[in-house]
Amino acid sequence: MSSRKAANKPKIIGKVQVFGGPWSLIKTGVLGNYMAFFNKALKNLPFERVYIDAFAGSGAFRYITNAPKFTLFGVRDESQDIHVGSAQLALGVKPAFDQIFFIEKNRSNVKALQELIAKSGHPAAEVVRGNANEVLQELCDPRKWRRRRGVIFLDPFGMGVEWRTLELIARINSAEQSS
Ligand SMILES: C[S@@+](CC[C@H](N)C(=O)[O-])C[C@H]1O[C@@H](n2cnc3c(N)ncnc32)[C@H](O)[C@@H]1O
Repeated sequence: MSSRKAANKPKIIGKVQVFGGPWSLIKTGVLGNYMAFFNKALKNLPFERVYIDAFAGSGAFRYITNAPKFTLFGVRDESQDIHVGSAQLALGVKPAFDQIFFIEKNRSNVKALQELIAKSGHPAAEVVRGNANEVLQELCDPRKWRRRRGVIFLDPFGMGVEWRTLELIARINSAEQSS
């Protein structure tokens, strides 16, 4: 990697999960742009801007590549394969979210997320350990969303999102329309 490219790459901290493929970079790229546009668009409106990452991961990931370990120029730098995950993107987005909730069931990911929050200095980010489908029942209570607008990111492994969870999220939207 050239020194210019290395300087542009965000600093990755914490535990690295292994999943996904090149498409994961498209996903995090779209999410990062969406979060920044969302916060910019709502910056001067009287709403609390909330981000919920329901399957938050650890904050960093890599996917398996077929790239050879040894190259003509020596051992390949595998740190290039590590990428910023959704949680780390959310903590760094500018303008910032007012409130961030990370939901995660894996204990070591929870610890990694807590460390990320501490290092980020975000004043109102927290990790809720548990099953996202259950924790969202509480977080998506429409009464809590009268003065909130938010981004809820659902990124499970496989089919981890229950239908009733999608109904819950939809109910927030109808509460907003009826208020
Ligand atoms: C695909 S990864 C998330 C990746 C993350 N969005 C990122 O960009 O780095 C899915 C995560 O959901 C967690 N998970 C799986 N089922 C869950 C559940 N029912 N409730 C909460 N977390 C869950 C897994 O431990 C895993 O960390």
